[in-house]
Amino acid sequence: HTKFYPYIESCDDLREIESEDGIYNIFDYGGSEYSVFCDMSTDGGGWTFVASIHENDMKGRCTAGDKWSSERGNNHNNPHGDGNWENSNTFGRIEYATREDYKNRAYFQLNASNLMVWYVPNNTSFSDYKPSAYIRYRTANKTLAKLGGNLQEIFKSYPIKYLPKANYKNGPSAPVVFDHGNLTDLMKNSVPRFFSEVEFGYVQFRALNEEKSAFAFCPGVRIVASNLNVEHFCVGSTSYHVGHKGIVGYCGDFSAFDWSTAKASDKLIHTTFFLFYR
Ligand SMILES: *[C@@H]1O[C@H](CO)[C@@H](O)[C@H](O)[C@H]1NC(C)=O
Ligand SMILES: *[C@@H]1O[C@H](CO)[C@@H](O)[C@H](O)[C@H]1NC(C)=O
Ligand SMILES: *[C@@H]1O[C@H](CO)[C@@H](O)[C@H](O)[C@H]1NC(C)=O
Ligand SMILES: *[C@@H]1O[C@H](CO)[C@@H](O)[C@H](O)[C@H]1NC(C)=O
Ligand SMILES: *[C@@H]1O[C@H](CO)[C@@H](O)[C@H](O)[C@H]1NC(C)=O
Repeated sequence: HTKFYPYIESCDDLREIESEDGIYNIFDYGGSEYSVFCDMSTDGGGWTFVASIHENDMKGRCTAGDKWSSERGNNHNNPHGDGNWENSNTFGRIEYATREDYKNRAYFQLNASNLMVWYVPNNTSFSDYKPSAYIRYRTANKTLAKLGGNLQEIFKSYPIKYLPKANYKNGPSAPVVFDHGNLTDLMKNSVPRFFSEVEFGYVQFRALNEEKSAFAFCPGVRIVASNLNVEHFCVGSTSYHVGHKGIVGYCGDFSAFDWSTAKASDKLIHTTFFLFYR
């Protein structure tokens, strides 16, 4: 159902009057109306769906459909990739968020307190988004507010660029609480070979790998130090990578989730990460 309320800028603003998960119309900061998907039931509701990170072709390295990294190839002259973690582009459609990348205005306009993440299997249809999400968790204690209020603000402070001489460090991380699933579920879908490099039960914003490439977001883990093997855990890598022996294997939305000797589960590789704010 689609309803209309003036002066409503987020799903959180609808909490007092709506309690059903669904699509609602809200207003952007310019006064234009647009539709968003609201989770009105998790922990009292009020969660605005702002983005999905979907891998359409695990073997394609920064090819068409890699909007959270680059659609223009693994290119030394394009160290920033497509910049979509930091810029104000929008793309995708709510109903196709498990088949392509999605980002709406709320991603950079809301000033929110916390971030929620859902693990939704690829190609799930809209009505099944929540029932099929096999892991759901969220930050608490106004983590997002403390880091600037939204992801664009975070990544303005911690840019996602391949700039080896910049000597970047990993960005902040935050613990999460689970609404569905648990640490065991996170671990059994992850990459055992590098368990010593992560702590489960967190989200990490910007992580640098050994080859000094930047990765935007590490769902479910924090990385214990800079310059480790984060390409197996984190999504949204920038568009230039020279890995071991010159291999350019991890440019792309899902980086090296499918790396032969350090592979995540097929279930995780075929997951779309949904991001919500409240
Ligand atoms: C599902 O995920 C895989 C691996 O990331 C990808 O290759 C495939 O195209 C995706 N399928 C759909 C329908 O989204
Ligand atoms: C978000 O709100 C806080 C106060 O709650 C304010 O200090 C901050 O400047 C706001 N940030 C943005 C990006 O609007
Ligand atoms: C995705 O799901 C639709 C129907 O929900 C189906 O027609 C289509 O074949 C599926 N695509 C893939 C690649 O599995
Ligand atoms: C929130 O803060 C409380 C009190 O400091 C702390 O015990 C708890 O672990 C925090 N939880 C999260 C998810 O940040
Ligand atoms: C974790 O969740 C799964 C279902 O998602 C359940 O089967 C398992 O018992 C849980 N484990 C713990 C330690 O709570």
